[in-house]
Amino acid sequence: MSAYDLAKPLLFSLPAETAHGLGHTALRAVGETPLARPVADHYTVDDDRLAVEAFDREFPNPVGVAAGFDKNAEVVPGLAALGFGFVEVGGVTARPQAGNRRPRMFRLREDDAIINRMGLNNHGAAAVGERLARLDATVPVGVNIAKSEDVESADAPADYRETYEQVAAGGDFFVVNVSCPNSQGFEELQNRESMAAILTELQEAGAEPLLVKLSPDLPDPAVADAVDLATELELAGIVATNTSTERPDGLESPQRAEPGGLSGAPVEERATEQVRFVAERTDIPVVGVGGVATAEDAYRKIRAGASLVELYTAFVYRGPSIAREINRGLLALLERDGFDSVDEAVGADLS
Ligand code: FNR
Repeated sequence: MSAYDLAKPLLFSLPAETAHGLGHTALRAVGETPLARPVADHYTVDDDRLAVEAFDREFPNPVGVAAGFDKNAEVVPGLAALGFGFVEVGGVTARPQAGNRRPRMFRLREDDAIINRMGLNNHGAAAVGERLARLDATVPVGVNIAKSEDVESADAPADYRETYEQVAAGGDFFVVNVSCPNSQGFEELQNRESMAAILTELQEAGAEPLLVKLSPDLPDPAVADAVDLATELELAGIVATNTSTERPDGLESPQRAEPGGLSGAPVEERATEQVRFVAERTDIPVVGVGGVATAEDAYRKIRAGASLVELYTAFVYRGPSIAREINRGLLALLERDGFDSVDEAVGADLS
């Protein structure tokens, strides 16, 4: 039994956001003290076969932390010490936002899932940008950029640019979040015209490498449109997928009817389908996210075309050793199937 297994009943007896805060305190203690080195030695799987090069960045392994876990770039060193290959911080907006009223994050324990309607609470781009500039990160750091809640969709391009300019110096890549289901007006941002306006504005501002993050609820023709646009604009990557407002049959948890975005095991299949759909249509690297909890889950997304994977929900359920477990498991799966590296397995299932 791990220390996390022992702590879990206590953590899970607390409201989800309180437990999240405790997790952050622990990660800060790890990241900002001499503990970082021994913790990193314990959790890091150091193996060249796991290394991935994507959009001109070197990732020590393909398992990253998804956006929303470290909204304000406060615990990157702690997460790196746990063996994650990269961290996507944010979503960040131009100015600080309080987000929605609590409670706004719910564990669906019976379903290995979470529903959240945080509403993009964050300290704002200036504060996050300053923190990023001071970071001496050992892994690539992406910045998830979102639309401010008080900004109309028509004014979104300038708003995204304002945020980008404040975080530009500290990010290794930038993810345009047009798919948050918990903030006003996001549906409209995913049509081709709005997306084109936002992405070109950011490109003019020099945002590079630039990725876009899509919703799992987008119908295939809209995903195809988004992929075509990303290809035309020569974006660096596509992140698939964000949380879902749909509620698949079979959810058992009493919290399943809470409004918000669903993440975790119930979205795993849909997210992998979207990874495959995107990878079949473009050579742009895909970052696969949604329900990754095990090496098998990560491997499925990689074989479906993901160059990198990310997770959030499974970190809550499985604890600090998740990156190590997945990376070790990936090595075993690569060996089983005769691949010399993760890179070789990317897209192996595509026709
Ligand atoms: C998220 N996610 C998210 N995504 C994003 O682009 N910007 C954000 O600010 C957030 N915030 C956020 C908060 C919480 C509490 C959760 C659970 C999720 C979505 C996240 O990055 C990821 O796309 C989904 O959660 C699916 O991955 P998992 O959780 O199934 O591994």
